[in-house]
Amino acid sequence: MTGSRPSRPTLQEQEADHLWWRDGVIYQIYPRSFMDSNGDGIGDLEGIRRRLDHLAWLGVDGIWLSPCFPSPMADFGYDVSDYCNIDPVFGNLEDFDRLLTDAHSRGIRVILDLVPNHSSDRHPWFQAARSSRADPKRNWYVWRDPKPDGAPPNNWNSVFGGPAWEFEPQTGQYYLHTFLKEQPELNWRNPEVVSAMHDIVRFWFNRGVDGFRLDVIHAIAKDPELRDNPEVDGVQLRLHNENHPDVHGMLRELRRLVDSYDARMLVGEVYLMDPAKVATYYGLGDELHLAFNFSFMHAPWDAAAFRTHVARFAALVPEQGWPDHVLSSHDARRHASRYDHATLGEERCRLAALMLLTLRGTPFLYYGEEIGMRNVEIPVNAMQDPLARTLTPQMCRDGERTPMQWQPGLGAGFTDGSPWLPFGIDVETRNVSRQMADPTSLLHLYRDAITLRRQNPVLHSGSFQTLDSAEQVFAFERRDGGTRALVALNFGTTPINPRLPAASVHGGLRTHRQSPLAGDAASLQLGPCEGAVLLTDG
Ligand code: GLC
Ligand code: CA
Repeated sequence: MTGSRPSRPTLQEQEADHLWWRDGVIYQIYPRSFMDSNGDGIGDLEGIRRRLDHLAWLGVDGIWLSPCFPSPMADFGYDVSDYCNIDPVFGNLEDFDRLLTDAHSRGIRVILDLVPNHSSDRHPWFQAARSSRADPKRNWYVWRDPKPDGAPPNNWNSVFGGPAWEFEPQTGQYYLHTFLKEQPELNWRNPEVVSAMHDIVRFWFNRGVDGFRLDVIHAIAKDPELRDNPEVDGVQLRLHNENHPDVHGMLRELRRLVDSYDARMLVGEVYLMDPAKVATYYGLGDELHLAFNFSFMHAPWDAAAFRTHVARFAALVPEQGWPDHVLSSHDARRHASRYDHATLGEERCRLAALMLLTLRGTPFLYYGEEIGMRNVEIPVNAMQDPLARTLTPQMCRDGERTPMQWQPGLGAGFTDGSPWLPFGIDVETRNVSRQMADPTSLLHLYRDAITLRRQNPVLHSGSFQTLDSAEQVFAFERRDGGTRALVALNFGTTPINPRLPAASVHGGLRTHRQSPLAGDAASLQLGPCEGAVLLTDG
């Protein structure tokens, strides 16, 4: 796959000093739910701008905004009808420029969410394409004749349920859609589509945007013959409509464009559970800068599981690449809920935070995790996510997309109006202002761990090595020249000495904030679900 391309220098060779997306912490914002500035109950760009001080205080280096482009919102922005503008519900281009300027003035970079695999069916490109078989835009999408019996051209299923093909009677053909029928698939085998996408990337880079998260990037190329997918035990394997080898060439072209700008980056949603496949999307340092490793996100609450996922991905990412870790997003139950526990739920949030912020690899935080926001139960008749309708209410993603809990009281500091989704039932006690006032809160732990990471390069750039410890402990070492950080995370419910090597401790932090740090690492005692990072000499 990589052929005889020249291998790039390693990141360390390329860039001795700070690289924001490698050494920093990135924070995902779901724009509908972060901050509403005009009382319509929906978050917007001006709202995000007004909350930048929270993000600067927390210490994040970049924000990734889920799509804020014009959209009919069939999939809440992942159906784009104009890639070079802002949806009026979020504001306009001037609001965007103001947000960008104010973020940059605080040292915060801005990543936009590009949806290259499909557009909205209301995009003028698709409107033209569907109008006639002879339209010059017809081939920007994927059209095929029905089978002789009228059936869809092949057996591909939509990820969102039902066939991946929709019949258009006016032109007598089906079009392909991997997601909703309102999200027709763009045809990346058409050079005009590729060049339109490159123009979009230039448009935002020229405005000052720092990077892109690429939605379902592993699916942009399909089998050219559109062969049927095999089925195993009634389950369709997505062999011919995702992870096609031709995606890599498309990414290399895009990367060349990105590299013609200064310090920009690409992080890809490569939604494959096999980390070996995910790692191929780094190429030889000439494809993605970062690829999300979803196997880590789906790990059960178990020290050995995390140890395995982290070590496996670390071994797979090429040395020109860089790992990353993420526990929550707009597509999965929040980890505070996934890992909740009758008595140790809050401790688990703390331990997860310390793990995320001490591993080797860029941490991605999801808004609200810094205060331990849980998934919110949404009554079936109030569900908004199309998945609740096309699949089942159990698949509904509204629960992880509820408004940020800023303060107690009506509107929770999020809105003066009525919020588009309800707040968590814990909003009066679990909110930013409450935790800001409490130095032992989860919010302060996030902030202190981010600060420690920034102040001690060993914690972002140092090497990574797992350490032998007890079954219930995930312990590892980070090293950078003469400095060392030892991390021990007790996933169990009983206290334990993790048996770290002897070394005198000169800094660090514990998730149980009141306990003093150990004098010598070997004597560290951890409580149930407690974790510690200890800075020691070499
Ligand atoms: C990605 C997004 C998800 C969206 C889908 C279709 O998986 O993260 O939210 O529904 O793509 O665009
Ligand atoms: Ca608003």
